[in-house]
Amino acid sequence: MKKTVFSGMRPTGKLHLGHLVGALNNWIDLQNKYDCIFGIVDWHALMGEYEQSKEIKENIIDMAIDWVACGIDVSKSIVFVQSHVPEHLELQMIFSCITPLGWLERNPIYKEQLREIKSRDLQTYGFLGYPVLQAADILLYKANAVPIGEDQLPHIELAREILRRFNHIYKTNFFNDCEAILTKMPRLLGLDGRKMSKSYQNAVNLGDSEKEIKSKVKKMFTDPKRIKFTDPGHPDECNVHMYYEVFAPAKKKEVDEWCTKAQKGCTECKSILGDILADYLAPIREKRTELEKDKDRIWDILDEGRQKAQKIARKTITEIKEVIF
Ligand code: TRP
Ligand code: SF4
Repeated sequence: MKKTVFSGMRPTGKLHLGHLVGALNNWIDLQNKYDCIFGIVDWHALMGEYEQSKEIKENIIDMAIDWVACGIDVSKSIVFVQSHVPEHLELQMIFSCITPLGWLERNPIYKEQLREIKSRDLQTYGFLGYPVLQAADILLYKANAVPIGEDQLPHIELAREILRRFNHIYKTNFFNDCEAILTKMPRLLGLDGRKMSKSYQNAVNLGDSEKEIKSKVKKMFTDPKRIKFTDPGHPDECNVHMYYEVFAPAKKKEVDEWCTKAQKGCTECKSILGDILADYLAPIREKRTELEKDKDRIWDILDEGRQKAQKIARKTITEIKEVIF
């Protein structure tokens, strides 16, 4: 039996290079080996951004366009919108009955977000239950494997604890264990060296024009110790170098040379990187422009995905009710 893979992304804004190397490229590989289900998790977006709810719809269509443009193949994988399959909420309800509050209150992701995010009030019942809905997303399709970034590991651990508790309470082995599949790529930092995030505006977006890409790369932070052209640089301490490693690994040696021997200045080094990134994203950009012309077709794709997802979801809910009641 082929494994089932589930993963999701919140439609909270434009997708950037971090999403591509941190998640999408991995998903694209997985779809050749496994039955993959990819959800645009709009309820999760609403939990955090309930005051900007009007933006979510536009973000959903944008996300679907990005996914397909990058190579998510809807003839192989199921691509759908979480809120179109209400069974997610049914399973969330069931799981919320058996999930101890302490597990959620101790969730390190939750604690960090309450600490870090000051612009929105996240002290809500819904937001505390974020990982319960995430567990429902995964287990509704009995997925065995969940590709995620390392930062999401506590949520997968919680999903596993919830499924074990379910099996224990109802004396069943209804749910098999699931595991995280971590992305091999090192984490790509933003252009300014901080965490890549839309709120920092420090990312190259997948839909950026060639001009935008090049001008953003020009402003990237470099090795702070290399002040004059003649100072040798330290590639290991330079974020630009990291981008070379990810997007042009074959050039890494050459860059090391020109950097440590001060043969090229940072401006030139960045200008070459700008060309590389613009070329890397060109096919995605072209596909994007084409897809954007026919948004009805995108909604059709999402509806086909909904039908396939819902068929599985309905069956799980029916079975689970038999286990519980
Ligand atoms: N919490 C995940 C994130 O922010 C998104 C997500 C929601 C998810 N449901 C999921 C990821 C199920 C994997 C599986 O990245
Ligand atoms: Fe970084 Fe390139 Fe400058 Fe070296 S030459 S410090 S790798 S930008």
